[in-house]
Amino acid sequence: MSYDVAAVRAGYPALADGFAYLDGAAGTQVPVAVVDAIGAAYRSGIGNAGGRFPASERASALTAGCRQAVADLTGGDPAGVILGPNMTTLTYRLAGTLARDWGPGDEVVVSRLDHDANVRPWVQAAERAGATVRWAEVDISTGELPAGQYAALLSERTRLVAVTAASNVLGTRPDVPAITAAARAAGALSYVDGVHATPHIPVDVAALGADFYATSAYKWSGPHVGAVIAAPALLSTLHPDKLIPSPDTIPDRFERGTPPFADLAGVTAAVDHLAQLGAPGPGSRRERLLASMAAVEAYEQELFAALLDGLAGMSQVTTYGKAASRTPTAYFTVAGYTPDEVAKFLAGRQVNVWAGHNYAWELTGVLGLRDRGSAVRAGLVHYNDRSDVDRLLAALAELTG
Ligand SMILES: Cc1ncc(COP(=O)(O)O)c(C=O)c1O
Repeated sequence: MSYDVAAVRAGYPALADGFAYLDGAAGTQVPVAVVDAIGAAYRSGIGNAGGRFPASERASALTAGCRQAVADLTGGDPAGVILGPNMTTLTYRLAGTLARDWGPGDEVVVSRLDHDANVRPWVQAAERAGATVRWAEVDISTGELPAGQYAALLSERTRLVAVTAASNVLGTRPDVPAITAAARAAGALSYVDGVHATPHIPVDVAALGADFYATSAYKWSGPHVGAVIAAPALLSTLHPDKLIPSPDTIPDRFERGTPPFADLAGVTAAVDHLAQLGAPGPGSRRERLLASMAAVEAYEQELFAALLDGLAGMSQVTTYGKAASRTPTAYFTVAGYTPDEVAKFLAGRQVNVWAGHNYAWELTGVLGLRDRGSAVRAGLVHYNDRSDVDRLLAALAELTG
């Protein structure tokens, strides 16, 4: 399948500012289709949901449309799509809810590969419940999270396994189906952080075996909205804190207060945008998403190979992570410069990158990087092109030359 990156880039007004946007792992730019969808929602008039008048019905329709879009993106059930401000907020909410049933002797498994948003909510909830936390370790020579270790970490007392579908700094994609299968066999639930993975691969929550799958639209060209996808039957067994008059239905009872209806229109538009990136031809939106994201993955991996090749040719650059399966996310240090100095220099060359732990708190700790400013992250997404990679490499050559 062809991938026309010039056409993709033309849809993003922000890219016209001349910067190489290699900061997508922290949040992507937004295509005009998403900006227009949000504007159109406001222009057409939005009331609060649940009323008798058309502007209110439009708000309800935007919410329903967003649930369907996120379900299509992830292979989930729209009736199990919980919407919220971001992944962190939703994860704290789910952790607080699930931990109501935990007690001393119960166990929770988290990983050192994960972003802290899929670690600390579980650790803190476990501590409050008196439950035990077990840690899955990273092989720091490769950046892999070996799935084989879970057999020894799980027991009949394990209640939950939290694991990422992709590291937001090393890009490592663990064998999630193997980990969730082991969790299920032990009678535990799995909570998969899909925030970093979702923009880079076709996602199928059933194939991943995830009981819960979390994602954030602002990482895949949408507005700042988070979502957790779960089976409605599972959600119906859970009872989060909620206001007395707010809906007790699924998934509404997991959502707090009034949602940003216009942004939900933007999320739907972002999903439609992803569905056409690889020019996938006809089919349902789900089918187009699977084909389009496969084209995105192939395109990004080719570009990533060029980036890694270039970095490997620089003697003063050290890269971290070489997992067999990775998102196009490079994490590196430059001898003689702090990561922050590198990021500042690159900004002066119109290259946007991040420096620091990027909330991969445990991982940067075990890598021995966190105490010295961690590293520089340059991440590719579907709108990056060869000129972005070349600009980064040229600027690094200038810095180290
Ligand atoms: C892998 C990963 N998980 C979780 C988060 C937190 O997401 P949010 O900002 O939606 O809370 C991020 C954000 O950078 C992330 O990269």
